[in-house]
Formats: sequence, C-alpha cells, structure tokens
Amino acid sequence: MDAKVIGLIGAGHIGSQLARLAVAHGYEVVISNSRGPETLKGLVEELGPNARAANPTETAERGDIVVVTIPLKNIGQVPVLPLAGKIVIDTNNYYPQRDGHIADLDNELATSAELLQRHLPASKVVKAFNHIQAAALTADAQASGTPNRRALAIAGNDDGAKTEVARLIDEFGFDVLDIGRLSESWRIEPDTPGYGPRRTTDQLRRDIAAAQRPHGARPVK
Ligand SMILES: NC(=O)c1ccc[n+]([C@@H]2O[C@H](COP(=O)([O-])OP(=O)(O)OC[C@H]3O[C@@H](n4cnc5c(N)ncnc54)[C@H](OP(=O)(O)O)[C@@H]3O)[C@@H](O)[C@H]2O)c1
Repeated sequence: MDAKVIGLIGAGHIGSQLARLAVAHGYEVVISNSRGPETLKGLVEELGPNARAANPTETAERGDIVVVTIPLKNIGQVPVLPLAGKIVIDTNNYYPQRDGHIADLDNELATSAELLQRHLPASKVVKAFNHIQAAALTADAQASGTPNRRALAIAGNDDGAKTEVARLIDEFGFDVLDIGRLSESWRIEPDTPGYGPRRTTDQLRRDIAAAQRPHGARPVK
C-alpha cells in the first residue's frame, strides 16, 4: 500500500514535527489534539495546503497510516474502530511522573507499545520515533545513503507494517533498525542506552543488545 495521508493523533512536540516531515515529503496530513481543530489553526497554516486539522476520530478515519503521539496516560481515549486494520505508529513513552503509575509497566509485564496494541487489537501497531527528541526529527534528518546517517529503531508484530513504516522513516531521513516484536520494545524505552543519543545503525544495535531491565528480560514471545 502506498500511504497518501498521514494522520496524527497528538499535535505537540512530536506530532507537529512529524507533520512537518510528512508535508515536506509530499504527504497529506490530518492532525488532531484533545482541544479541537480550531486550536490548531496556526500549525495548519504553517504546514500549508496539504494539511488540515480534525478531531481524533476523523483523523483515525482519514489516515492511511496514523501516528498516536500523546501522553501515555491518554491512550485509552484513542478511537478504536476507525483504526482497525490500519498501521498505527506509537511514539509514546512511559513517564510515571506525568502518566501516573501503570502496574504492568512497573512490573515489566508489558511494554508501552503492547498497551497501545491491547487497546487497538485489530490495528498493526509499530513502535517508532520514541527515542529521538522532537527537534532532532528535522535537524538530524539526512538523505538515504549519507555516511553515518542517524538510525531509528522500530518494533512490531506485523512484518508488513514494519516494512511500510521503515520505508516512511527512510524517506523522512533516517536509517532503520528492526528490533523485533512489541514485547522487545522495552530495549528502546526511557533509561536504556539507545534512548536519546544520536546513533548510527551499528551503534544502535549495540545499545539494543546492551539494554537491561531492572527485573530481567522476559522470554521473547
Ligand atoms: N518531546 C519529545 O521529544 C518526545 C520524543 C519521543 C517521544 N515522545 C513521546 O511522544 C508522546 C508525545 O510527546 P510530545 O512531547 O509531542 O507531547 P506534547 O508536546 O505534550 O503533546 C501532546 C499532544 O497530545 C495531545 N493529546 C493529549 N491527549 C489527547 C487525546 N486524548 N486525544 C488527542 N490528542 C491528545 C495534546 O493535545 P492538547 O494540547 O490539546 O491537550 C498535544 O497535542 C509522549 O508519549 C512522549 O513521551 C516525546
């Protein structure tokens, strides 16, 4: 499938930056926040004629690929039915001081991406863009083939969805490292070596291998 419309649920630091990359690469953008489309007038003006604001349900309906980029505590509010069958990119990170405590994450029984997948059982969730600071999404983007290009990790349970998201990330300006299923995405969550710094593919692969969980890794499933 050739995605034409990128939907963004969340229009903050990451949502607005991904919207900028998407319009720069010829996509249509539909973007939403919690307060309503009228509050996104300035951003939509900046993004230009290929962008418009909507509510989250319409964003989910219109997007060929939909990015959920909101505080983790709010993922239960993401519309479920219009995202069935679609690729959903999950940029979200768990910060207990912001999100409150979530027992399955504190006890390492799930990754934050698995929580979104549980909420969206018929969607193809791919973890991506969670370990790069918003400003670097545009500042570090480089054309394919640039030596020592920055790499970003993806994880997901659907190989076809990962292939498509990898293509998008490459188009947006980054090499891609597939780190496995959503259950493995803890390896790129906050407090791991790869979370934050600029890394090439080889460096990121080493960081992923070196990541440790305080309570020990679960068996891969
Ligand atoms: N900032 C970074 O550099 C960075 C990097 C990687 C990953 N992340 C992660 O990516 C996610 C987004 O981060 P951010 O920094 O972009 O957050 P942010 O700047 O605080 O923006 C959050 C956005 O989510 C919207 N939102 C909140 N609840 C919503 C809901 N129920 N439905 C629709 N939209 C909703 C907010 O809309 P309103 O303003 O209208 O409430 C706002 O547009 C977080 O999980 C964060 O941990 C952030």
